[in-house]
Amino acid sequence: MVSILAIETSCDETAAAVVNNRNVCSSIITSQIPVHRQYGGVVPEVASRQHVETINQAIAQALIEANLGWAEIDGIAATCAPGLVGSLLVGFTAAKSLALIHQKPLIGVHHLEGHIYASYLSSPELEPPFLCLLVSGGHTSLIFVKDCGDYEILGETRDDAAGEAFDKVARLLNLSYPGGPEIDRLAAQGNPKAFPLPEGNVGLPGGGYHPYDSSFSGLKTAVWRLVQKLQQEKVDPLPVADIAASFQASVARSLTKRAIACALDYNLKTIAVGGGVAANSGLRSHLQAAAAPHHLQVLFPPLKYCTDNAAMIGCAAADHFRRGHISPLNLGVQSRLSLTNVMSLYCPV
Ligand code: KG4
Ligand code: ZN
Repeated sequence: MVSILAIETSCDETAAAVVNNRNVCSSIITSQIPVHRQYGGVVPEVASRQHVETINQAIAQALIEANLGWAEIDGIAATCAPGLVGSLLVGFTAAKSLALIHQKPLIGVHHLEGHIYASYLSSPELEPPFLCLLVSGGHTSLIFVKDCGDYEILGETRDDAAGEAFDKVARLLNLSYPGGPEIDRLAAQGNPKAFPLPEGNVGLPGGGYHPYDSSFSGLKTAVWRLVQKLQQEKVDPLPVADIAASFQASVARSLTKRAIACALDYNLKTIAVGGGVAANSGLRSHLQAAAAPHHLQVLFPPLKYCTDNAAMIGCAAADHFRRGHISPLNLGVQSRLSLTNVMSLYCPV
């Protein structure tokens, strides 16, 4: 059994958790959403300062709720890439300091690997190989999970990430930040067939479209044009619920089509979904329904492990630690790092 104290501060949640292999002993998440809402999005400098103010309390609370002392902690983990540099620095510096003070190994974790590991928290029996559909505020990827630290990116977005599209469309509709949960809530009251919207196919030079890559900027523009047209026609109030439902259905269709094609082509029997957009009820129902006839298993983490949290980071760290993957104390944070370079975070074994 490996007990890890984990920290996540890559964006706008200050999170700390204690994880025992794939078991969550405690998970503290302090969201900064109310602070950033007034600006309509995350302000990086404000995010870093908020992390500094709350990180110590989150760590102390995680240890208290887990009922563990430092002697029982085997390693200290924190997200070190990718993300907002100032935010990453707060969590990773805290982890380094604690590792030095308490003489524990340091495990830097790739944020997206954390989102993949969220599926292990709710499905501890899950083992690679499987396909991960990772849909967050910054990423939309289809990942062939071969082993711990061994990933192949099969599909990506060519422009906006799925979560980014939700946030931008929400802003067009005058909804508050973050837009995903707001659109999800409104879509439940709207008609998904009210407005035909494009699915965001990525064309190939010889004709047809890329089977796994997606694009959401065209869809976003289509919603913008629709809103302009309705306003010119003096439609008042705007049918916001119908627009939200039509947009959400288009994203769900697009992601589902690609994930299923990819799983079938690579003969992968399980699709594990991760990232904030995995919380979306339209995607959840659409993907589950479409996967059933193909006998594909679809796993969605509970909502609290879809959006950013430290438990998923601890789960990934525990697996790396078991394999002897430890980070050097002079490792820095990186705003960008491909998932295929995860092993660069660890000393050669
Ligand atoms: O994974 P996450 O918490 O942070 C990143 O790593 O980016 O994802 C945040 C994104 C935001 O864009 C947010 O609008 C979206 O996830 N999101 C949702 C829902 N809940 C959060 N999108 C659609 N439906 C939701 N229910
Ligand atoms: Zn995330």
